[in-house]
Amino acid sequence: MKNVHILDHPLIQHKLSYIRNKETGSKDFRELVEEVAMLMGYEVTRDFPLEEIEVETPLTKCKCRIIAGRKVAIIPILRAGLGMVNGFLNLIPAAKVGHIGLYRDPETLEPVEYYCKLPADVADRDVIVVDPMLATGGSASAAINFIKQRGIKNIKLVCLIAAPEGIQKVHEDHPDVVIFTAAVDSHLNEHAYIVPGLGDAGDRLFGTK
Ligand code: PRP
Ligand code: URA
Repeated sequence: MKNVHILDHPLIQHKLSYIRNKETGSKDFRELVEEVAMLMGYEVTRDFPLEEIEVETPLTKCKCRIIAGRKVAIIPILRAGLGMVNGFLNLIPAAKVGHIGLYRDPETLEPVEYYCKLPADVADRDVIVVDPMLATGGSASAAINFIKQRGIKNIKLVCLIAAPEGIQKVHEDHPDVVIFTAAVDSHLNEHAYIVPGLGDAGDRLFGTK
């Protein structure tokens, strides 16, 4: 699949299996989501350009490489995207965090926006949108629309589990956006839940059901 990276590192797959398990409680679920987000962040940042600097070790001077002044914004889609933020901040502590609040209307399944607060200089930043679930793709596509309205060009979307329908929707609406996911599942059920999936990510993270 073009513009889709499936991150199948054994550690990611191992932890994802525990995340999927309905017996995993909120505390472990939260910790595992954060850990997987951090592991995924390692691959998501692979294209960050490097620049050469001179470093003096205790023995001598040498040429070393550091990340070339990359400015990043991490944008979780509320609520469930919050669970992935700290994993990314552990890797990119200088990143700023924007928030987009969307929920799926249970009747229409259409995304409804209720909050949007992005860093003032977001147009100068590379954006990493995080949300554990890419189901119909409606929420992610709407979030990317809001972000693009602010002039941002370089957008990546990172989720834990994607449905084929969601990938197709994001591809159609935003062919420039690269998707990173730990798994592509079988299909959506009649309530647009991902099967086999992990259930309701927000409820499992925050213990609301
Ligand atoms: C979930 C999930 C995504 C969305 C995916 O959020 O975190 O944002 O559903 O579904 P879609 O691809 O069909 O749009 P939800 O609407 O349940 O809100 P919550 O995070 O507040 O629980
Ligand atoms: N949102 C979730 O939290 N889970 C799904 O399976 C689909 C949408």
